[in-house]
Amino acid sequence: DQVQKVDQYLYHMRLSDETLLEISKRFRKEMEKGLAATTHPTASVKMLPTFVRSTPDGTEHGEFLALDLGGTNFRVLRVRVTDNGLQKVEMENQIYAIPEDIMQGSGTQLFDHIAGCLANFMDKLQIKDKKLPLGFTFSFPCIQTKLDESFLVSWTKGFKSRGVEGRDVVTLIRKAIQRRGDFDIDIVAMVNDTVATMMTCGYDDQNCEIGLIVGMGSNACYMEEMRYIDTVEGDEGRMCINMEWGAFGDDGTLDDIRTEFDQEIDMGSLNPGQQLFEKMISGMYMGELVRLILVKMAKEELLFRGKLSPELLTTGRFETKDVSEIEGEKDGIQKAREVLVRLGMDPTQEDCVATHRICQIVSTRSASLCAATLAAVLQRIKENKGEERLRSTIGVDGSVYKKHPHFAKRLQKTVRRLVPNCDIRFLCSEDGSGKGAAMVTAVAYRLAYQHR
Ligand code: BG6
Ligand code: GLC
Repeated sequence: DQVQKVDQYLYHMRLSDETLLEISKRFRKEMEKGLAATTHPTASVKMLPTFVRSTPDGTEHGEFLALDLGGTNFRVLRVRVTDNGLQKVEMENQIYAIPEDIMQGSGTQLFDHIAGCLANFMDKLQIKDKKLPLGFTFSFPCIQTKLDESFLVSWTKGFKSRGVEGRDVVTLIRKAIQRRGDFDIDIVAMVNDTVATMMTCGYDDQNCEIGLIVGMGSNACYMEEMRYIDTVEGDEGRMCINMEWGAFGDDGTLDDIRTEFDQEIDMGSLNPGQQLFEKMISGMYMGELVRLILVKMAKEELLFRGKLSPELLTTGRFETKDVSEIEGEKDGIQKAREVLVRLGMDPTQEDCVATHRICQIVSTRSASLCAATLAAVLQRIKENKGEERLRSTIGVDGSVYKKHPHFAKRLQKTVRRLVPNCDIRFLCSEDGSGKGAAMVTAVAYRLAYQHR
């Protein structure tokens, strides 16, 4: 029947536990390469030090601004943390649009826009005369030399703003603010969204030592022992490492499991040859993978009686949101019909059943791949700690994890199967990255004053 037909056709997308364990092993090797940057300067999984050395300890307080750039929404926030025995966090936030021509225009345009949004937000809150500390969640790979210096390695996802790669993002935003001259601000910390997510969850659960994002992009961070981080001086304690696992496979490591559809996605992307693991997993690509499969099967006359509509042939028209909806409804087959009809198709019942199954296979593969890399991270933390049984919390955010009806459950089940000797808690980050950026800033502020 239809399900069998699709299962056969997508045989290479259905990964066995054995394959997942093999991928996990490969990722573990990549982690080690990235940490030993001196001997492997070109490692594809970069394992970037973040200069975040501890999760919140509960004494943080103050008034902060935060920026959150790189996910679905660009946001400006004010976060107030009061420390009166029982801690309290208050937040106000505003979403601002970033038009595509700015995302792919000049760097000056982009940072002027960001500074403009900040000014608008401060105007509204009537805080333009205050020089507040700011934490910037910037969800791209950056080489950090300290908390407030952060050089963009390369844009990922939908950004491609000119003249920013290789530059210090803190300097760029400071300059943009100076060009305006109508307010001042103290940029204290740059953090990746994985780090901000870990810190947000760490505020509620002291065991939180991993941050995971499965949204437009996918990535994770975790607390590593300083003695294993070659690129940072000192051997004491731990530091958070932004793994940038989206780039896993960029050196060919995953070529045997990448399919023709993965290659096609890559070739049509803004950054060909880069973020190959991310392109198999995250929300920016999941719907498009399904579309490519539908088109190919139709061309081979396995679906839609060989017919295709201009919409179904258009990049981006089948969205990740559609995948979630098709898998979410009790009657997913009917939902598949609605989506296909919207795309100008005239599907049979069999076509709808097949489409539903394709969605399942693509999203299940995504969850399985995340589970494989996460398993490697857990295994590593476990060995670092030398514990028989690891108890650990993973802070998670991102539209795929939160909105796909089965993703979270599948990911959790698979992780637990791959690393049976762990007690793992998955904690959803509720307030996005704003709170986390403020936490990092608050900790940095506290330390700066202690050292004076
Ligand atoms: C948000 C966080 O809620 O989740 C962002 O505040 C993060 O920092 C984002 O980048 C990731 O999810 P998505 O789906 O928006 O890419
Ligand atoms: C991309 C970015 C990474 C970010 C992830 C999730 O992979 O390179 O920095 O954490 O998306 O937003």
